[in-house]
Amino acid sequence: MKGVLLAGGTGSRLRPITHTGPKQLVPVANKPVIQYAIEDLREAGISEIGVVLGNKGREAIQSFLGDGSDFGVDITYIVQGRPLGLAHAVGCAESFVDGDDFVVYLGDNMLKRGIVDVVDGFRAGEFDAGIALQEVDNPTQFGIADVDEDGRVTRLIEKPDDPPSNLALIGIYVFTPRIFDAIEAIKPSWRGELEITDAIQHLLDDGGAIDSQVVEGWWKDTGKPEDVLEANRLVLEGLEATRAGSIDADAKVEGRVDLAESSQIESGAVVRGPVSIAENTTVETGTYVGPYTAIGANSTIRNAHIENSVVVGETEITTSGRIIDSLIGRGAAIGSAEGKLPEGRRLVVGENSQLEL
Ligand code: DAU
Repeated sequence: MKGVLLAGGTGSRLRPITHTGPKQLVPVANKPVIQYAIEDLREAGISEIGVVLGNKGREAIQSFLGDGSDFGVDITYIVQGRPLGLAHAVGCAESFVDGDDFVVYLGDNMLKRGIVDVVDGFRAGEFDAGIALQEVDNPTQFGIADVDEDGRVTRLIEKPDDPPSNLALIGIYVFTPRIFDAIEAIKPSWRGELEITDAIQHLLDDGGAIDSQVVEGWWKDTGKPEDVLEANRLVLEGLEATRAGSIDADAKVEGRVDLAESSQIESGAVVRGPVSIAENTTVETGTYVGPYTAIGANSTIRNAHIENSVVVGETEITTSGRIIDSLIGRGAAIGSAEGKLPEGRRLVVGENSQLEL
């Protein structure tokens, strides 16, 4: 079985963070979202992975993943170009798949429990496709499946106005090559995209057998800033703390704090976990780093109060204000204007921005 990881798309809902980089490289607990998908595929025994790229952020994704050997997999790149829809993206992988069964993993989705159960469920029967589902509160925003009492899928519909159920298709699919005929047969949806949901519905109409599995444990589509923060919180919840870096005697470090070896928490700073601090980063005197914060590599945090936030990296934060629930792009500099900031600020800051608060 092969893997097809979709990493095209425009990332419009994560702007300005995605003005300069692809959303699949936005870090969650200091690891790019796409790396979680690669690791899940590998854990399911899938090492031949085709990564489908759009026009945007192609080089950045290729330079991060390379040939896959750093991650224990073998990567082939497939260029989709313009994002004409998930079914179009899957269709681009036909020659890579070369007659095998394959897993499609949306590159901005994350699952707590990985994909082993979904793949095993599919393998246990004679199916033409397998879908992973989870109940959601907002079914109009997802692909939705209607399932009968025996768990058989009876209908699939993309972002319905009037949802027949609240079981959302989460971004994991298992396919046989039959899906390619279905992709050929469908027409673009109201949003102008070739929908994978419509292709699976076509397979169903054609007499295909569709396996469905309701996935346990959390699942996150990290398409929006609040979703990135929530995914970050969920991963940090299970953080294993390795305080490899240096912690000055007068620094106060509480709870689970993952501190890279080359990083430092200076005397007079307070860090309250769960917190992840990547390489070459200094948390200076007078700083408070609160729970559910991830600070990327090569950053300096001075005098600030920051919590429940993701700092992508190469960032200097020297404001004396409070930064909460924020997503701060690579290379941003956040300083202080005259006077102090009385309240917390919620920020979504693009790459290389300069702010005075
Ligand atoms: O997150 C689950 C949902 O993902 C499903 O419930 C929906 O049925 C499915 O259509 C999809 O909906 P989204 O609107 O959230 O998909 P999005 O446009 O965010 O694309 C998902 C991933 O696929 C993302 O990593 C970008 C990539 N992609 C997207 C398009 C449209 C491509 O590689 N090529 C494309 O043409």
